[in-house]
Amino acid sequence: MTSRIKDMLGVQFPIFQAPMGSVTNTKLIAAVANAGCVGMHAVSWDTPDEIDTLFAATRAASDGVFGANLVLEWDQQERLDTLIANECKLVSFFWGDPAPYLDKAKANGMITMLTVGTAAEARHAADIGVDIVVAQGWEAGGHVWSNVSTLALVPAIAKKVAEIPVVAAGGIGSGRAMAAALALGAEAVWVGTRFLASAEALAHPGYKDLLVDADESSTAHGFMFDGGWPDAAHRVLKSRVVDMALSGEEKDRALIGRLPTGGEMRRFDDYPPTVGMTGAWEETALYAGQSVGQIDAIKSIDAIVTEMLDDAREALQSVSAF
Ligand SMILES: Cc1cc2nc3c(=O)[nH]c(=O)nc-3n(C[C@H](O)[C@H](O)[C@H](O)COP(=O)(O)O)c2cc1C
Repeated sequence: MTSRIKDMLGVQFPIFQAPMGSVTNTKLIAAVANAGCVGMHAVSWDTPDEIDTLFAATRAASDGVFGANLVLEWDQQERLDTLIANECKLVSFFWGDPAPYLDKAKANGMITMLTVGTAAEARHAADIGVDIVVAQGWEAGGHVWSNVSTLALVPAIAKKVAEIPVVAAGGIGSGRAMAAALALGAEAVWVGTRFLASAEALAHPGYKDLLVDADESSTAHGFMFDGGWPDAAHRVLKSRVVDMALSGEEKDRALIGRLPTGGEMRRFDDYPPTVGMTGAWEETALYAGQSVGQIDAIKSIDAIVTEMLDDAREALQSVSAF
């Protein structure tokens, strides 16, 4: 099977680790890159110094392929400059119009990606020069841009923008789901929740255990955790706090703990629980996609990638003679 993505990025396997805010760290990105896949740093909230440190540490730990993601809810020009200064060659944009960033990124030799939620948006992205689109379906974990399921979105986008590659996101937590995404017309997959439940991710250990226990119906989609990022739909594990948010009562934004930096963590803030957080981590935003139902254990990145590739190949073979 051919994948333009593999040629464009010089990567062995058509799997991206989806950027995931503060739960992605150098250890995770390097492990993904070392496994022959694409690692994605999520640097939307990092200072230039933090980005410099991340890039230096990742390069020291891996010769593999990795890039960085910027959420366009906030101005990201300075962070884009910092990525360029770090000779980052792959940048992905989410949650907005990438036009103000594209010329600079492309002039500096970056491959550009945009997460889209409709075929019309993908068409526009291709027209303004985006190199790769990520089709993120409604079942995705974290912040969710689309109202359309991955199954319906990917083929519509693949048809609409045949001249650039499409990466499928949302719902892909196993080899079977990867095989399905490739059959739908994607040339790679963008995997979030499955990599979140890895030994290497910086997620709080209790959060990882909840991901293992959850099934495909354990998540809720809505506007529950809006402290710091209002009016932005997201998908999280159901919890007592999710019930509180959905009850319609005024939100009690009590102090529930401290971030690893020592900063305040209030109920309904948009932070996921990470190692080093203190207080009621189980009351925070437990981002997870419906793909959580495909997770049965916390494993190393290497084991997850090997299993996903083996199972995808087997699934594609088993359906080829229907
Ligand atoms: C904890 C968490 C944090 C996320 N943070 C980001 C982010 O910073 N930038 C971004 O583009 N997408 C972010 N996402 C969305 C993922 O990149 C991806 O689209 C999603 O996880 C795919 O669905 P899946 O979880 O079913 O694999 C996040 C997702 C999760 C679970």
